[in-house]
Amino acid sequence: MTTQPVTLIINGKEQNFALSTETPLLYVLRNDCGLNGAKFGCGLGECGACTVLLGDRPIRACTTRIGAVRGRHITTLEGLASGGLDDDRTPHPVQQAFCEVQAAQCGYCLNGMIMATVGLLRSNPHADEKAIRAALRRQLCRCGTHMEILAAVRLARDRMAEETADAGGPARLQTLQSPPAPFHPAPAAGTEAEASAP
Ligand code: FES
Ligand code: FES
Repeated sequence: MTTQPVTLIINGKEQNFALSTETPLLYVLRNDCGLNGAKFGCGLGECGACTVLLGDRPIRACTTRIGAVRGRHITTLEGLASGGLDDDRTPHPVQQAFCEVQAAQCGYCLNGMIMATVGLLRSNPHADEKAIRAALRRQLCRCGTHMEILAAVRLARDRMAEETADAGGPARLQTLQSPPAPFHPAPAAGTEAEASAP
């Protein structure tokens, strides 16, 4: 397998790799970047444990080849907190809500649950129950903490909407939800369709 230079923008920082373009994004995040928030569950795109954001869209990192997302913005669980990767970072409101509700038993699914929720609330800040369930439908939890997970999503949604209303509308919402500022401008359009994740 031949290697090629591949650039990814991970949590706002441009990173260069010399790897096969067929390498799963999940392997690069965990093995090359030391970002272990995304988990290896099934490796087949079925469980959602490996979910990351491509732009604002949740994708399966295990079935996404890095060649399909070269030059794109990837956000992992580690990149959600304000303050980026600094020690004094503040958890994202969705992370905070999941902690408060204690929506975990083993916690293995939570990366995917949180990333899917962040993606949902970016596209639909006032998601109703039907939209929440649809967004999490393909995120599997084997421990059965579904009720707590749903409660955490509702809490995050309501709190973020409240903060938005208190602090000046959509501009503030963007600040609350966005990852760190991109290191470089977005790459050319047309590459998103190449992402192989479902
Ligand atoms: S590890 Fe299960 S969907 Fe990626
Ligand atoms: S809390 Fe264990 S898989 Fe969801």
